[in-house]
Amino acid sequence: MLTQIIIIFIILYFARNIYQEFFSNGTNPLSSTEEKDSTIVEGKFTPKTLAKYNGKDSPKIFIAVKNRVFDVTQGAQFYGPGGPYENFSGRDASRGLSKNSFDTEVLTPIDQPIDKLLDLTDVEKETLDGWEEHFENRYKIVGTLEENKD
Ligand code: HEM
Ligand SMILES: *[C@@H]1O[C@H](CO)[C@@H](O)[C@H](O)[C@H]1NC(C)=O
Ligand SMILES: *[C@@H]1O[C@H](CO)[C@@H](O)[C@H](O)[C@H]1NC(C)=O
Repeated sequence: MLTQIIIIFIILYFARNIYQEFFSNGTNPLSSTEEKDSTIVEGKFTPKTLAKYNGKDSPKIFIAVKNRVFDVTQGAQFYGPGGPYENFSGRDASRGLSKNSFDTEVLTPIDQPIDKLLDLTDVEKETLDGWEEHFENRYKIVGTLEENKD
């Protein structure tokens, strides 16, 4: 029952995003001029170097989804300090998104190997793919997530 409610919520987000894409006429974060200034160089991140981009230690907020790093600074109301999804900031959010959980316990600690997500159920994989699409539609990719060097 809870799962159904969550799925309905997710469908609503996507419907809203599709609507926005067609009618926003250039107000999409990706087309704003601020987003085009390239202070961020496409790069490689590790769980440890990504952690800095949490909106506190850096004004930029990045999150990783399936080993790609998105600049979600435009969504600071979600991911910034005090936001509902702030636990994802500077982190690989993949597992949390797949399980509809924003508890930090679900995310892999930053000194651990990157989560391979091998144990996800088909539904969890689909949920994660849906979120991945959401991020692709809304935010700029600034790099990839690779294993810690040490
Ligand atoms: C009853 C629970 C929830 C409510 C009422 C809720 C509400 C919302 C609302 C109103 C938005 C804004 C949509 C928009 O403006 O684009 C949003 C976005 C979002 N929600 Fe939730 N949410 C809930 C649960 C969850 C859960 C469990 C997750 C995943 C762990 C989640 C992850 C997200 C993400 C990733 C976004 C997109 C933010 C962005 O566009 O950057 N939400 N939610
Ligand atoms: C869309 O934006 C352009 C400029 O960016 C403007 O000329 C045009 O009138 C806008 N169209 C609508 C429907 O608002
Ligand atoms: C962040 O994670 C902690 C620990 O799991 C949890 O107690 C808290 O509710 C989470 N914060 C939000 C905003 O969900």
